[in-house]
Amino acid sequence: MPSITLKVNGSEVSRDVAPQTLLSEFIREHLRLTGTHVGCDTSQCGACTVHLNGRAVKSCAMLATQAAGQSVTTIEGVAAADGTLHPMQEAFNACHGLQCGFCTPGMVMSAIDLVQHHDCSTEAKIREGLEGNMCRCTGYQNIVKAVVQAAPATKAMA
Ligand code: FES
Ligand code: FES
Repeated sequence: MPSITLKVNGSEVSRDVAPQTLLSEFIREHLRLTGTHVGCDTSQCGACTVHLNGRAVKSCAMLATQAAGQSVTTIEGVAAADGTLHPMQEAFNACHGLQCGFCTPGMVMSAIDLVQHHDCSTEAKIREGLEGNMCRCTGYQNIVKAVVQAAPATKAMA
């Protein structure tokens, strides 16, 4: 069984993993970071989105071994060390950008990447940028509001 070493939320971790282990499975089951959700396992819903070297990826669409030597951030790693929420988390809270919360970790991770690395200058661009993330509660209106609200502070953190 291969052994992999990578950074997760700023800390180095090493584990033995079966070669077929998905990154999402590694994060949830080996590291017990269950904020990363799995809604489909077929790369459609975006609930499993994490950052790989600062860019959003669907963790069910890659193998854990492919993340070896790289840096992964999960939803557990976006708040400050003292527990202060990330501006995107604050905005989702303030704008009621969630209902059941299942899609929320993936939405937040995608929204941070969207704001920091893509054009989010209009609501249409935000909707387009988040099209890989599905909300089964259909709370898109308030999700878009949250992204608009958090954009300046989130961009400043890039
Ligand atoms: Fe990865 Fe749905 S669980 S995209
Ligand atoms: Fe329920 Fe999005 S808040 S799936």
